[in-house]
Amino acid sequence: MIHEKVPNSWPSNLPASIETFKPAYTDVGQGKVPILFLHGFPFDRSTWQKQLDFLQVLQRSIAIDIRGFGETSGGNATPSIALFADDLINFMDAHKIEKAIVCGLSMGGYIVLNAIDRYPERFEAIILSDTQCVADTAEQKENRQNAIADVLKNGSENFAETFLEKVFSEKVFMQQPELVEEVKNIILNTHQDSIASGLKAIAIRADMCTSLERIEVPALIICGSEDQITPPAQAEAMHRAIKNSELRTIKGAGHLSNQEKPIEFNRHVLRFIQKITGEKKVFDAK
Ligand code: MLT
Repeated sequence: MIHEKVPNSWPSNLPASIETFKPAYTDVGQGKVPILFLHGFPFDRSTWQKQLDFLQVLQRSIAIDIRGFGETSGGNATPSIALFADDLINFMDAHKIEKAIVCGLSMGGYIVLNAIDRYPERFEAIILSDTQCVADTAEQKENRQNAIADVLKNGSENFAETFLEKVFSEKVFMQQPELVEEVKNIILNTHQDSIASGLKAIAIRADMCTSLERIEVPALIICGSEDQITPPAQAEAMHRAIKNSELRTIKGAGHLSNQEKPIEFNRHVLRFIQKITGEKKVFDAK
């Protein structure tokens, strides 16, 4: 743990390396309790654009570039999921956001699970998309170590090709080639040191499964039925463990369900938010 848990009052008392750290973000719409989006690895906040476009009329919606990704620099601290979770709380402190609905996809979900366990009072609700609570197996750790060595030696082209084959089903390669290209470009534009650091942070993450029973706020769990990286069985296990949770499976979507099937994804998020806020505004899915 990097520092003591934030007491009920805020802002928190974070170490200087985190306090001075300023992530890039997009902030649209208005409202008291914003929804914050955390992207997966090794992507950036642009992967939430379809959610921001859709939700901004109803809700203040913020997407953040995680440390080392997109337009956010890496800083000096050693990357870890706990550090990224502290960055989230620091961001909320800096923007005077006492509580938020936080939505994380994959690595973003790892960050949400870490943060809510240490700072439960900062969450109104959570959305866990295409993610899991388990830690890496020894084999997965070794694969990540090999990928780090390859990326640092040869650059990220080979890593991008191999990774995309797990991210997307064959159908997406055929039917949404522009999306595949867009995501590939994000990976290629990510500095190879950030890819290596991200792989390391993910590989050393803690297993959060026993923490799920402590989650008290409403949770929406979303998973693409074809997700090969964090498969539906992982989403089902989290649903069983989080008492106040609902599970939505998006048929035909792979690991990036929010980008592959944004209409279905946005509808699930909208219904969940309306349930929480008691809002009855109905508007068409874009
Ligand atoms: C992600 O999308 O964030 C990563 O694929 C997560 C992982 O590799 O465990």
